[in-house]
Amino acid sequence: MSGIFITLEGPDGSGKSTIVKLLSKYLEEKKIDFIFTREPGGTPIGEDIRDIILNNKNIHMSPRTEALLYAASRSQHISEKIKPALEEGKVVICERFVLSSLAYQGVARGLGIEDVKSINDFAIEGVNPDLTLFFDVDPIYALNRKTNKKEGDRLEKEGLNFHKEVYDGYKELISMYPENIKVIDASKSVKETFEQVRKEIENIL
Ligand code: TMP
Repeated sequence: MSGIFITLEGPDGSGKSTIVKLLSKYLEEKKIDFIFTREPGGTPIGEDIRDIILNNKNIHMSPRTEALLYAASRSQHISEKIKPALEEGKVVICERFVLSSLAYQGVARGLGIEDVKSINDFAIEGVNPDLTLFFDVDPIYALNRKTNKKEGDRLEKEGLNFHKEVYDGYKELISMYPENIKVIDASKSVKETFEQVRKEIENIL
């Protein structure tokens, strides 16, 4: 496949969405053929699955169901959108991918990294990111900033311990799979954070 696949990862509220807006503008100015997408979601079927996963009425969802729904959304995303775009030579920027499932479901939900990885291997048909940017920021500060005065979705409403475990999970995963993962210091200003992202993207383009 001739395109480049870049994923953005990090705790809830780590500023990925803010940076994506700046990144889109930057890539448009550079006349780079790119698509931006996100998980869970990214396709009509995936967005329906997203609604089920994040809906606060689904408090009884089992961790395995949750992991399978994320993987199902991802499988649709790969076959309908990501793979075709990469085959057309596009740059694909995706907010969250398999690493999120390994940190949230594998570590924080306690399903185990290996089991969650195996259902995802089935889902992604061998399409792995060329570069992953991990937005490193204190997870409790980030979560409070995101949910400030809002109720939050089903995942955001998990306790602070859950979000701390997600963060520790990410750190463990980065030491397990350091290839292609770059750590961005997202505690810096938006401008400084974007500068780090821009440099990493320029290196790979
Ligand atoms: P978002 O708020 O970043 O769009 O993501 C929705 C939530 O889903 C967020 O709390 C992270 C979580 N998530 C997982 O638990 N596993 C996954 O595989 C993905 C993609 C997201």
